[in-house]
Amino acid sequence: MATRQNGIRLAGRLDEVGFSDIVQIRKKVMELRATGVRVLALDGGEPFFETPEEIKQAGIMALKEGHTRYAPSCGLLPLRQALARKLATKNNMRATADEVIVTVGGMQALYAAFQSVLDPGDDMLVFSPYRTPIADLVTGTQARPLLVPMVSARRNGLVATMEQFATPQTRAIYYNTPSSPSGVVFTRAEAEEVAAFAIERDLVVIADEAYEDLVYDGQHVSIASLPGMAERTITCYSFSKTYAMSGWRAGYAVAREPFMTALHKMVLYSTNGVSTPVQHAMMQALATPEAEIARRREEYQQRRDLLVTGLNDVGLECPSPAGAFYAFPFADKINRNSRKAAEILLDKAHIATIPGTVFGAQGEGHLRFSYAVPLQEIEDCVEALRAFFA
Ligand SMILES: Cc1ncc(COP(=O)(O)O)c(C=O)c1O
Repeated sequence: MATRQNGIRLAGRLDEVGFSDIVQIRKKVMELRATGVRVLALDGGEPFFETPEEIKQAGIMALKEGHTRYAPSCGLLPLRQALARKLATKNNMRATADEVIVTVGGMQALYAAFQSVLDPGDDMLVFSPYRTPIADLVTGTQARPLLVPMVSARRNGLVATMEQFATPQTRAIYYNTPSSPSGVVFTRAEAEEVAAFAIERDLVVIADEAYEDLVYDGQHVSIASLPGMAERTITCYSFSKTYAMSGWRAGYAVAREPFMTALHKMVLYSTNGVSTPVQHAMMQALATPEAEIARRREEYQQRRDLLVTGLNDVGLECPSPAGAFYAFPFADKINRNSRKAAEILLDKAHIATIPGTVFGAQGEGHLRFSYAVPLQEIEDCVEALRAFFA
């Protein structure tokens, strides 16, 4: 139902779409800093290192060489060809350049995917805890997110749990591996279970592989590479994490028809493509040697181990996350209410985290700590936690 404010009627489909209260936490951190307090900011969600120099240079060169005009709205052909090669070698996915679309970050890929698949009244299965904007992307189509608790899914079986929550209106599954905020990496066997369920029920899968290069335990499996899945999956990728390009807003999606035409319409009538110099920088990023990506992964792993050990040592029970760059410990030793726990930690120990409740009901009782920060900051955080609990 459309609502009126100041006598103005807005489109009703935005009524249920919210803003994450992560913004409120950032505001509080800034206020504290303004008073001279040193805040350990483990609330973020982007890499600790700068965009590598050669990628920056490629963007600068593109400008200098006059690549300042419209690119095709689906993306430059050489970039899409390079992405198709990457998908074949790294993700075991056979896609043509026409089955790849360049997007303004992984976020636009996800937005276009949800808009392309969901109708008002549809339902979508979402493993929970989930990344906060996902529920808003679903409700923005006037569909409904059905939260599938990840812990019970792993305990009782993925299929049995999805069966329990699916409705006749269920049209799609959001499948994020490695997952934010829990760091869960779905195993190949789990991917096969989700795929079998999608095929049996004729569901579309929207796969989010933004953290594909940050798997420490186990292996990254692209669900679209499994038999029968390429034709029913839209896979969304981001350059933000692997290449530390969050501010460039670079991503892409891969899908077959009829999805690709729909995705193309969404991109065409929103941004009409990605900035041309950014696409040149993306081509350079794709030339990054795998050894370099592996080296950075090791740096993240070192951070993960340091933080997770520190959290467990002070009694904030934390299973080691297999992927992404977040630790998601239980927070009840501070407070059962995660909002209160985050507030106490910020006020008393000057550590900024995100309350688990913003990631859905299944996140309550937890705090999200990002370890995509300098090592020193993790050491200081562990020290501050020890002092807090002393
Ligand atoms: C799971 C996941 N998917 C997608 C994105 C979108 O990334 P971007 O729009 O920066 O490419 C993020 C960013 O935090 C993420 O955590």
